[in-house]
Amino acid sequence: MKLGRNDLCWCKSGRKYKSCHLAFDEKLNALALAGKLIPNHDMIKNEVQIAGIREAGKLNTEILDMISEHVKEGISTGEINRLVHEYTIAHGAVPAPLNYEGFPKSVCTSIDDVVCHGIPDDNRILKSGEIVNIDVTTILNGYYGDASRMYCIGEVSEEKKRLVQVTKECLDLGLAAVKPWGHLGDVGYAINTHARKNGYTVVEEIGGHGVGIDFHEEPWVSHIGQPDTDIVLAPGMIFTIEPMVNMGTADVWQDEEDGWTVRTDDGEPSAQWEYTILVTEQGTEILTR
Ligand code: MF3
Ligand code: CO
Ligand code: CO
Repeated sequence: MKLGRNDLCWCKSGRKYKSCHLAFDEKLNALALAGKLIPNHDMIKNEVQIAGIREAGKLNTEILDMISEHVKEGISTGEINRLVHEYTIAHGAVPAPLNYEGFPKSVCTSIDDVVCHGIPDDNRILKSGEIVNIDVTTILNGYYGDASRMYCIGEVSEEKKRLVQVTKECLDLGLAAVKPWGHLGDVGYAINTHARKNGYTVVEEIGGHGVGIDFHEEPWVSHIGQPDTDIVLAPGMIFTIEPMVNMGTADVWQDEEDGWTVRTDDGEPSAQWEYTILVTEQGTEILTR
């Protein structure tokens, strides 16, 4: 069924198609005819959804700012979990990880060789010399924001500090590669190029993801990528960029006992930073950092 110019737009904005996504669809259709992969309509958020996801993202950033004061030598990851959980609930929101596909806690805490999805534990005290990723995802009024940051605990080696710094640069270069009507493959290419130039490797099996109405939506975001490949990036798309960069091998394994913890094969450290971003007409907006 083809939408008429005066029909209501598929994005549920309540506006007529001709004054909403008609020109947008014409542009995408031309790109599809030119052989490009184009995003589905369900990857495109409307203004009401964007506003809701922006609010969830703001609170998510506030939670990371709050926890940043506490991520120090001597605190347990279980205590970090409690602080995130209580702050989230006190602000009328829900921590998305809790009970997500059986995840037992409200935040992920991933130390040293743990690549991602580390489970907080009251008996796991942060020690000087460790690097830790805190990954917070918040549901506010049904909308999701997802971001993570790295922390250096006490006296950290120059080697590990550099891994943390270069991984942040990878995220920022990935973000800079996001161009409206550009390609998703450009993002991973920028990330992988910078990581390799610095002697590091990028985890291949786990990627970023569409987010906002649900925790993990399409598209899947590779942090490897090739230029001018993968789907076209259109205004209204919201997804995470969350490169996992390893000091040694790119290979990882998942703990079968807890079902979650992902570690590097060689036990060398891994770092990760994550933003949720919106593709706009002009460029990008970071929704949570
Ligand atoms: N926040 C993670 C991400 O960036 C997902 C964690 S899933 C959980 O996609 F269940 F472990 F929380
Ligand atoms: Co996350
Ligand atoms: Co994510």
